[in-house]
Parts: sequence; C-alpha cells; structure tokens
Amino acid sequence: VSAVVAIDGPAGSGKSTTARAVAGRLGFTHLDSGALYRAFALAALERELDEGERIAALADALPIRLDLVDDRFRPEIAGVDVSQAVRRPDVTARVSFVAALPAVRAAVNRMLRAAATLAPLGVVADGRDIGSVVFPDADLKIFLVAAAPERARRRLSQEGRAVDEASIRRASRELLARDARDAERAHAPLVQPPGAVRLDTTGMVFAEQVETIVGLARNAFPQLT
Ligand code: DC
Repeated sequence: VSAVVAIDGPAGSGKSTTARAVAGRLGFTHLDSGALYRAFALAALERELDEGERIAALADALPIRLDLVDDRFRPEIAGVDVSQAVRRPDVTARVSFVAALPAVRAAVNRMLRAAATLAPLGVVADGRDIGSVVFPDADLKIFLVAAAPERARRRLSQEGRAVDEASIRRASRELLARDARDAERAHAPLVQPPGAVRLDTTGMVFAEQVETIVGLARNAFPQLT
C-alpha cells in the first residue's frame, strides 16, 4: 500500500485544485474520486439508467477506468478521456444521486484502492469519504472547509462566470443543497473523519492552503525531507 494523503470536504471547498497542487509538490499522484463518481453519472445519464447494480455493471462493460497519465489519474469511458465532459452542469446536477447508490460506491472504492497501488510514490486523494471509508489508514487526513459564499465565489470565477451578489447567492444555495444531499445520505455520508486536521480556508489564499498541507505532509512523511 502506497502513501496516502486524504483530503475531504464539501463541494467547492477547493479540494481538487488543492490536492493536485499538493501532489505536484510532493511528487505524488492526484486521485480525484469526485471525477470518478462524475464518470459514473455521465455514463448513467447517457444510458438513462437510475439503478445502482445496472450502473455498476455498465461501468464494467464500457468500461469506466482510471488511467494513470503523468502525475494524475484520468477518468475514461470506453477509452475516451472524459475529464472535461464530467464537469458538465447536467452531470453535476445528477452526481449526488448516482453517488448515493451503494453498488456504485462499492465499484468506485475498488477502483480507487486499485489505483493507489499503481502510484509510484503515493497519492493525494480527494473526495467526501476518503479518510473515513476509502483509506481509513491514510497517513495524513485533511478536512477542508470554507464558508458557502466564499466557495460559491471561487466556483463562479473558476468557471469564468459573473461573480455578482445574485449569482453568489444562487451558487451558494446550490452548493448547500448538494452538501446536504452528500451529508444526509445513508451510505458513506460526508463527515469529518477521526484524526483529520480541519482546515478552514475562508480567509486563505490558495498558496497558503497548499503550503499548510505540504508542511503537514512533510511531518507525516519524514522520508520526503
Ligand atoms: O468533488 P466533486 O464535486 O467532483 O464530487 C462530485 C459528487 O460526487 C459529489 O456531489 C459527491 C460525490 N462524491 C462522493 O460521494 N464521495 C466522494 N469520495 C467523492 C465525491
């Protein structure tokens, strides 16, 4: 089993961009579990499937895979890179539903654990249940939080959309609704895992948040120097 940094947190807390930057600094591989749930949601949307066992079976048949490319795992459906397609708003709207299906979660967890063994040095994995369920023995666990309006602002500017008060309010509401669905579901809900370091990034700039986690990782992995 390779070295694991687990980063969990609500939608828009900056997990994926942070995880990617931290992975780059440590020489680890980025493992974005949300992108994999999104790939399942995309495949399910295209086939109009809404039942967990069937979606998981479809994933085997297509197949849905994580492909190790340079320093990250990229989601693929039937050999096609879907890392852009999985960001589509219709996928975002559907993904909480698909991620709540136990058969889908079991399939995703298997793929994440298999992927981690392929990373040359270690992985920085981000999601909602990485430190609680997927890698409970992770060497370092981070729970990343930020105030909803701040998360909304970051999301809007990242997507190149207008960042006015009305848009922030609307995006905030959407994020909070998705958080509630992710936190209230029966299987592997969003929780702060035991032993996780809680990091509130509301007032932090990106570089600061990356530095903080890299510092914690250097303590957790003294061999990295
Ligand atoms: O981080 P994201 O927005 O790409 O995640 C997409 C969805 O997948 C999110 O609504 C919750 C779900 N998810 C999950 O249930 N467990 C994970 N480990 C990662 C994501």
